[in-house]
Amino acid sequence: MKILFLNGPNLNLLGQREPAVYGRMTLGELESMVKTRATELGATVEFRQSNSEGELVAWIQEAKSKFDVIVINAAAYTHTSVALRDAIAAVQVPAIEIHLSNIHAREEFRQKSLIAAVCVGQISGFGVKSYVLGLEAAVNVIDSSKVR
Ligand code: DQA
Repeated sequence: MKILFLNGPNLNLLGQREPAVYGRMTLGELESMVKTRATELGATVEFRQSNSEGELVAWIQEAKSKFDVIVINAAAYTHTSVALRDAIAAVQVPAIEIHLSNIHAREEFRQKSLIAAVCVGQISGFGVKSYVLGLEAAVNVIDSSKVR
């Protein structure tokens, strides 16, 4: 089971960035937490972060035939990027959308996700736990594809 975690713009600043909204854990610490759980589940996880929309699109395209599932926190691009949506739709690698905060309880511009409709589902509002839940959802997607 190979799972690609993609992180969008400003998530490299986790820990210092608006801690009241996003918490105090850094992206590196978050990665360690997800990897610990991944080991328990027998999954391999690769973590990447980019502030560039084009780089995220390229990584989604490369995921085809290399990863079983993509777990993506597209950050601000969630609300703006037709390019990310089209890339997810194009690659036929199941994707799970995650957010630390509950985007539906925030400003109106954050309540719309352009990628939600091309993802298997969305996990939003559980803080750093959203990443672990995203991992568990990814393993579930892989397991249920084997049953079918
Ligand atoms: C976020 C929510 C987005 O609206 C915001 O732009 C982010 C982080 C989250 O994880 O809660 O950068 O994706």
